[in-house]
Amino acid sequence: MSLLITNIGELTTHAGPVLSDAALVVEKGRVAWVGAAAHAPATDEVIDAAGRAVIPGFVDSHAHLVFAGDRAAEFAARMAGAPYTGGGIRTTVAATRAASDEELRANVARLSREMLRQGSTTIEIKSGYGLDVPTEARSLRIAGEFTPETTYLGAHVVPAGCDPDAYTRLVCDEMLAAAAPHARWVDVFCERGAFDEEQSRAVLTAGINAGLLPRIHANQLSAGGGVRLAVELGAASADHCTHLDPADIDALASSSTVATLLPGAEFSTRSPYPDARALIDAGATVALATDCNPGSSYTSSMPFCLALAVREMRMTPAEALWSATAGGAAALRRDDIGHLGVGARADVVMLDAPSYLHLAYRPGVPLVKSVLLNGELVK
Ligand code: NIG
Ligand code: FE
Repeated sequence: MSLLITNIGELTTHAGPVLSDAALVVEKGRVAWVGAAAHAPATDEVIDAAGRAVIPGFVDSHAHLVFAGDRAAEFAARMAGAPYTGGGIRTTVAATRAASDEELRANVARLSREMLRQGSTTIEIKSGYGLDVPTEARSLRIAGEFTPETTYLGAHVVPAGCDPDAYTRLVCDEMLAAAAPHARWVDVFCERGAFDEEQSRAVLTAGINAGLLPRIHANQLSAGGGVRLAVELGAASADHCTHLDPADIDALASSSTVATLLPGAEFSTRSPYPDARALIDAGATVALATDCNPGSSYTSSMPFCLALAVREMRMTPAEALWSATAGGAAALRRDDIGHLGVGARADVVMLDAPSYLHLAYRPGVPLVKSVLLNGELVK
């Protein structure tokens, strides 16, 4: 079965220049042909884009979807002046431990559906609200029902009443053994009040030795060694990067570690945004993701984050689109997604707009008209 999408007003593939009056052919879940609509080959089925813009599906490479409850009251308190410290994570941990598998699965299903409807065709999902052996393992098992990009974040915070060093050992031993069969990645919240550089190195190294690939919550609330550690360990991504010094920017620019920026978190915690311009201008690879979680960033919308990146972080619309698609793919070390070059997975988003520029130009407007996932029309 082959499918032609034709009359595309503006096609962004990232594999060449942006094309107008374009067409794209999908076969066996892959992009099989891209070119001028006038030269498109005959196919079994045809979709008429009627001049709309087509872009690659978003790759949301950072999300915490396995949890129960919400923290709307904490958000309201913050908007009234309370600071964000990450302390609320423990509230979500209590609710998550008390939830059944069915409740957790229903919440992940609801949020991943929201994401897909807003154009995210690949999502990463972290554990990190269990913080005991059984709940971390079941969180990852449930996450794995929705994505292959699952991340073990047993080292999110030290649970109430635990000794930090004893808990770090648990994360590196028994909890890791239970989590590793269900995870591709290992992550740690390297931050004052969470895990220091030495504990973070121990967690990531243990994960690597168990066959997981490292990524890291780095430099979110304060400057510190997180980014340096990410680069030292060859992590795929250093996430947040809100408080960087020039040496951190140089380190990212001269490494393959992606700087994943999460402007939804700065928006929802009323914090200063990361310096995306300094990172991009220095040559670092930048990704954008939602950080969807009940505390610091309860948005499932990549279009919203893209609009923030343009308005608040001075990324150009083209940079923001690239970072939300190909950048996210780089942060997951994937080359089959995040672009629409021939051979890529046919994850295709059609916008109810003539240009991708509208994603930032029309913030908050539901512009995703249809979505192909792996070549199948899912919206
Ligand atoms: O990425 N920084 C740590 N973890 C999350 C927040 C989790 C929460 O507040 O529940 C983040 O922002
Ligand atoms: Fe996060």
